[in-house]
Amino acid sequence: MLHGKRILLVIGGGIAAYKCLELIRRLRERGADVRCVMTASAKQFVTPLSVSALSGDRVYDDQFSLTDEHEMGHIQLSRSADLVVVAPATANLLARMAQGIADELATTVLLATDKDVMAAPAMNVRMWEHPATRANAETLRARGVRLVGPDDGDMACGEYGPGRMAEPDAIAAAIEAYFGAHAPLSGRRALVTSGPTHEAVDPVRYIANRSSGKQGHAIAAAIARLGARTTLVTGPTHEPDPAGVTVVRIESAREMLAACRAALPADIAVCAAAVSDWRPAAADAKIKKNGAPPSLALTENPDILKTLSEAGNARPRLVIGFAAETGDVVAKAGPKRAAKGCDWIVANDVSPGTGTFGGDDNTVHLLTAEGIEDWPRLTKAQVADRLAARIAAALGPAE
Ligand code: C5P
Repeated sequence: MLHGKRILLVIGGGIAAYKCLELIRRLRERGADVRCVMTASAKQFVTPLSVSALSGDRVYDDQFSLTDEHEMGHIQLSRSADLVVVAPATANLLARMAQGIADELATTVLLATDKDVMAAPAMNVRMWEHPATRANAETLRARGVRLVGPDDGDMACGEYGPGRMAEPDAIAAAIEAYFGAHAPLSGRRALVTSGPTHEAVDPVRYIANRSSGKQGHAIAAAIARLGARTTLVTGPTHEPDPAGVTVVRIESAREMLAACRAALPADIAVCAAAVSDWRPAAADAKIKKNGAPPSLALTENPDILKTLSEAGNARPRLVIGFAAETGDVVAKAGPKRAAKGCDWIVANDVSPGTGTFGGDDNTVHLLTAEGIEDWPRLTKAQVADRLAARIAAALGPAE
């Protein structure tokens, strides 16, 4: 499966472009996000409307569009993918890739990308066998471009031989194999907590907090994208379920702890939830408004992070906590790492005015045994990707 994998599909201008529509469907059926860039000549073979309808996204084709550069520039387009796939890779497109020519959005993206590139050549047999194309294919292969196909067979031009684009199923399988072999956390199991908890006062009322779950959900998605089997235990949020993640919904801290225990063993635990520190003694029936206002007697909730950190044989190898603090966050987070017994703490400022609670950005500091890293202000998705990459660097794939 390709759950949550982001694929940038560059569609070249050849008759095989029609097979791209099928490829987009196959990739999306497997759970991938597919964003498409079309060359000018690709649009002579299939319409952007068909491509957009199947990809569920707009098509990118204009290098000089002010709106596009504002919303999604060519650099960002080339980076916000896990793999770039070129299909059909025509003789002309292979030649431009080999020469590093950036004469339209598609080729500029291919030159700018920092991601691996897979290409499915498709052309007439003579063009494929021409020494120029052979040399271009060799140059690209030597640079790490993964070529899928071409197949032998009858061609649209009436000739027979190598040059037919690999079938969409075969390209999808090659993409799956790529991610299987390259997933930095493949074979690992991860547990992530997210969101607030709701602590019942009575059957209709509860105590909660302002956590949106955005950061925790993004972390679960990012870890799963790197290949870990991920369970997300979440309190009530408005966030959609991340792709490829097992989601367990709970309300209270005690339910969260039980769900976390059930998700063990795990190699990685990231406790991003804003767990309520206390709970009231919940009344069985709605508390009536007569007489003096009731006072709430609070009992301490279990500390999930501490429990996981002290779980003996069941302790995940890497336990990561969050420290949401107001003011002087790093000074407050240091002692917390020791007190909780976790390996890393991600400290962030949730003072009013920072916009962290519920917002899309976060400024965090990573505290490890080696020291403190101050990360720049990033989106929560970027914090998640960076943390997942750090986790992968620390653990790597399972043997
Ligand atoms: O003690 P404090 O709430 O500041 O610690 C924050 C960290 O501890 C977060 O990682 C949070 O998910 C975790 N935590 C927990 N269970 C609690 C309280 C906090 O897992 N009851």
